Amino acid sequence: MASDTGGAWWSGAVGYEIYVRSFADSSGDGIGDLRGVTDHLDHLADLGIDVLWLTPFYPTPGFDHGYDVSDYCAVDPAHGTLEDFENLTTAAHERGLKVVIDLVPNHTSADHPWFRDALANPDGPRRDYYVWEDPAPDGGPPNNWVSHFGGPAWTHDPVSGQYYCHLFLPEQPDLNWANPAVVAEFDRILMFWADQGVDGFRIDVAHGLVKDPLRRDNSLIRPLTPDMGPVEVFESFAHDHDLDQNANIEIFRGWNRLLEPRNLVLIGEIGVTDQERAARYVADGDGLHEMFFLESTYLPWDPPAWRNALTGLQPLAPTGVSWVLSCHDRPRAVTRFGGGARGAERAFALATFIMGLGGTPFIYQGEELGLPDGRVRPGHVSDPLAVRNPGSDEVGRDGCRTPMPWTGGPTNGFSPSGRSWLPSDDRPVELTVAAQSGDPASMLNRYRDLIAFRHRTPALWEEPLRWLDSETDVLLGRRPRVLMVLNMAPDRREIPLVGGPWALAFGSRCGSCCSPAPQSLVVEPETCLILTRE
Ligand code: GLC
Repeated sequence: MASDTGGAWWSGAVGYEIYVRSFADSSGDGIGDLRGVTDHLDHLADLGIDVLWLTPFYPTPGFDHGYDVSDYCAVDPAHGTLEDFENLTTAAHERGLKVVIDLVPNHTSADHPWFRDALANPDGPRRDYYVWEDPAPDGGPPNNWVSHFGGPAWTHDPVSGQYYCHLFLPEQPDLNWANPAVVAEFDRILMFWADQGVDGFRIDVAHGLVKDPLRRDNSLIRPLTPDMGPVEVFESFAHDHDLDQNANIEIFRGWNRLLEPRNLVLIGEIGVTDQERAARYVADGDGLHEMFFLESTYLPWDPPAWRNALTGLQPLAPTGVSWVLSCHDRPRAVTRFGGGARGAERAFALATFIMGLGGTPFIYQGEELGLPDGRVRPGHVSDPLAVRNPGSDEVGRDGCRTPMPWTGGPTNGFSPSGRSWLPSDDRPVELTVAAQSGDPASMLNRYRDLIAFRHRTPALWEEPLRWLDSETDVLLGRRPRVLMVLNMAPDRREIPLVGGPWALAFGSRCGSCCSPAPQSLVVEPETCLILTRE
């Protein structure tokens, strides 16, 4: 890690997302747990990872697989104990790995004592922890806001006659961030985990916390039609009043002030499509340090779209993006890029390119093996996005959440009992950690080589980057001592080299090379090359 560059400890770092439920099950109940993570830390250390992000492991009824938290300061028995968490953190720190945990402040579980109290005591102090409104004059929901998971973002409480807001499931009521008591509760939660030794937070739905106080209707971008699935309906609105309110940024400034003495990193999930609006969350360095900008987890292999995503966002937030190709919410990059060996090469070419950017690239578990999505067995669909929308074409997010393949055999070594909460086809042995580990040509060893290259080449993230003119499907990023070339075209391209002599330092198809580069460079199709100079 680049702490010796004088910057923040996360400068130049490489992150890794652990979807805890599906990473490794030590107890045999078929659900991934914290001990399972501890048992596999050497895999991450060998890969060269600097920072882990653990998805929620808190007590939960599990309607959204842990993103519905009923106690923010404890561990769900399915995932272990607080002592397991302490052991994990200690073992991670011994290996030089930092631990970032997922904080879910937009909503609680409907089982959280705050919400139970809010329902039971409409005049009590917890009522205003949530977003309540009277019905519209026709008795329906107060406005046109919709849930990400289908249907209105409002559910009627027959006892009080009011509606409460939920941008996700009705079992995930949204907190009222206009209430200073909610702000104070989360300050306490943040300090609880800071005292447990965490190194930072990944903030779920960071763009959603504050709602328009006037609860105005969102504008429609395109007409709604009855055949639209929940995601299409959600994306048909401009979300000018339920998401991305300026006051969100003030909340993160408060958290930054609170945590600054502890040197913790704050990384927000920013589901805002406008790049300039997204960049303001990290613009001044006094709020969020980095953001996950989700567009890159949606894109197929589409050169103009990638050009826009990378060259548009990078100058707006040169060190403020946690670059990702895959995560637990979207089809894996290999699948989006066409699957098979070609999909894996394309994903590795883009991974090579983002390892040459400032900010912190995050690998999603299994990405280092070149994994496509898994196949969930028929009848075992589990994601509420699919389960709650029967009849729509929404397939949900299970495919990217199947167990991490460690070895051959049942559940690929995920669970000693061969059980999995998400029954799915076992992966072929060549896609397992065990098979790839000793094979120098495997995707796993190519990722190890790539991450080691990033670590030994601080110019990749320290020097200012400018984008050179090029054809649409070729990206040319230039730093004083680095030239990055990404050829997304299906054919070879020739690049004139100026300002050399350059040496070929890393290629997505050839690894670390360190050979002198000629005057003009021929770049193979769908390949990334990184050149360096003295
Ligand atoms: C985020 C999480 C996703 C979850 C949602 C609601 O987008 O990444 O998995 O369903 O928030 O908490």
